[in-house]
Amino acid sequence: MELDNQANPAHKIHHVVTCCSWLKFTFLAMLFCVLVSPAAAYDPLDPTGNITIKWDVMSWTPDGYVAAVTMNNFQMYRQIANPGWTLGWSWAKKEVIWTMVGAQTTEQGDCSKFKGNTPHCCKKTPTVVDLLPGVPYNQQFSNCCKGGVMASWGQDPSASVSAFQVSVGQGGTSNKTVKLPKNFTLLGPGPGYTCGPAKVVPSTVFLTPDRRRKTQALMTWNVTCTYSQFLASKNPSCCVSFSSFYNDTVVPCPSCACGCRNKKDCIKGDSKLLKKAGINTPRKDNAPLLQCTHHMCPIRVHWHVKQNYKDYWRVKMAITNFNYRLNYTEWTLVAQHPNLNNITQVFSFDYKPLVAYQSINDTASVLLIVFSIF
Ligand SMILES: *[C@@H]1O[C@H](CO)[C@@H](O)[C@H](O)[C@H]1NC(C)=O
Ligand SMILES: *[C@@H]1O[C@H](CO)[C@@H](O)[C@H](O)[C@H]1NC(C)=O
Ligand SMILES: *[C@@H]1O[C@H](CO)[C@@H](O)[C@H](O)[C@H]1NC(C)=O
Ligand SMILES: *[C@@H]1O[C@H](CO)[C@@H](O)[C@H](O)[C@H]1NC(C)=O
Ligand SMILES: *[C@@H]1O[C@H](CO)[C@@H](O)[C@H](O)[C@H]1NC(C)=O
Ligand SMILES: *[C@@H]1O[C@H](CO)[C@@H](O)[C@H](O)[C@H]1NC(C)=O
Ligand SMILES: *[C@@H]1O[C@H](CO)[C@@H](O)[C@H](O)[C@H]1NC(C)=O
Repeated sequence: MELDNQANPAHKIHHVVTCCSWLKFTFLAMLFCVLVSPAAAYDPLDPTGNITIKWDVMSWTPDGYVAAVTMNNFQMYRQIANPGWTLGWSWAKKEVIWTMVGAQTTEQGDCSKFKGNTPHCCKKTPTVVDLLPGVPYNQQFSNCCKGGVMASWGQDPSASVSAFQVSVGQGGTSNKTVKLPKNFTLLGPGPGYTCGPAKVVPSTVFLTPDRRRKTQALMTWNVTCTYSQFLASKNPSCCVSFSSFYNDTVVPCPSCACGCRNKKDCIKGDSKLLKKAGINTPRKDNAPLLQCTHHMCPIRVHWHVKQNYKDYWRVKMAITNFNYRLNYTEWTLVAQHPNLNNITQVFSFDYKPLVAYQSINDTASVLLIVFSIF
């Protein structure tokens, strides 16, 4: 399911949240777009969220090794959307990549020193991207070839993995001589992630497909990358507007809620530019192409109080997309409100509570995560 594109208002997406206890009208301040979260790598709504990149050395070769590289998205609500991840690192020595299965480097680099058999990549700092779906079977690797898209852990753990195989040459050929790659970078898509150093961890144990035998990687190292909204963008990427059955006034998103620096590049809803080919193509740097609005946010969440009885209240939320470059498939929305610990019904969508964390405990608020149907 896709978010409502402003260009196509017939497909506005609504869902209704019903909650048990009577709603006090002080909640507006309590509801916020998750992307307005603090400017630190630490996310109080998902304190343990990270992306882990694991290298399992499966065999030593005459001049290096073959490793299975697995990326796990352990973030509860942040997925890696189209156009997917881009992973980079620096080789510690003169390593080259002989072959890669299930992914590819974006550039081969200068392999002129090699006669006959040429490596897949000779760059000191290779940049790796996932293959697109539908590649021939012999170029696939388990959990590969999804165009770099990864679901969030809270959404679908089985789809939150991405993996490829790399054969490294001119590297160490034993666990004593191998040098771990350095300076990992991850775009997911666009900036926001910071990766720590690779650390040797206990070797991964694998079960054979018939589950009757265990095998073990010859050596394993992990890299952990964490997300910071501040690194991704100094501005939030959504805003909240508000209305209710008891008052005709709609409280709109604040002006320039997501910053107005891009205002000169925004597109009017009726512009002829929208017919231009490629205008809807997402970019690797994740830069949006916004419809002109007073708030200049890619996403607006509207919170409308429909009913408010002694026993329960009911809210309709409408989410509107103003970014022509993204369809936001498989999106998630996180809402925080003191009463959401006793949701009785959510229509049209899946939801899941996020645990209430220490830092926000004092407000007694509980979080809700809302998923699209897919
Ligand atoms: C290494 O990463 C894997 C996932 O990629 C994770 O399951 C494992 O716990 C990590 N090991 C350590 C020691 O962090
Ligand atoms: C990694 O990054 C640091 C700091 O940017 C730099 O000093 C170092 O040379 C880099 N290492 C490699 C192997 O590129
Ligand atoms: C390296 O391999 C040897 C055996 O091949 C093993 O005893 C040793 O613990 C390994 N060291 C590391 C750091 O994995
Ligand atoms: C409706 O809301 C507006 C804005 O919050 C407020 O100024 C106005 O007094 C409200 N009207 C009624 C009838 O409550
Ligand atoms: C978004 O959806 C529209 C209509 O379904 C499609 O034409 C467009 O190519 C899609 N854009 C992206 C970036 O997927
Ligand atoms: C949740 O609501 C039900 C009634 O719908 C009520 O019986 C229960 O006590 C409430 N629980 C909390 C924790 O408020
Ligand atoms: C947070 O709330 C829980 C349950 O209400 C409580 O057990 C815990 O002690 C609280 N933690 C802090 C740091 O206040």
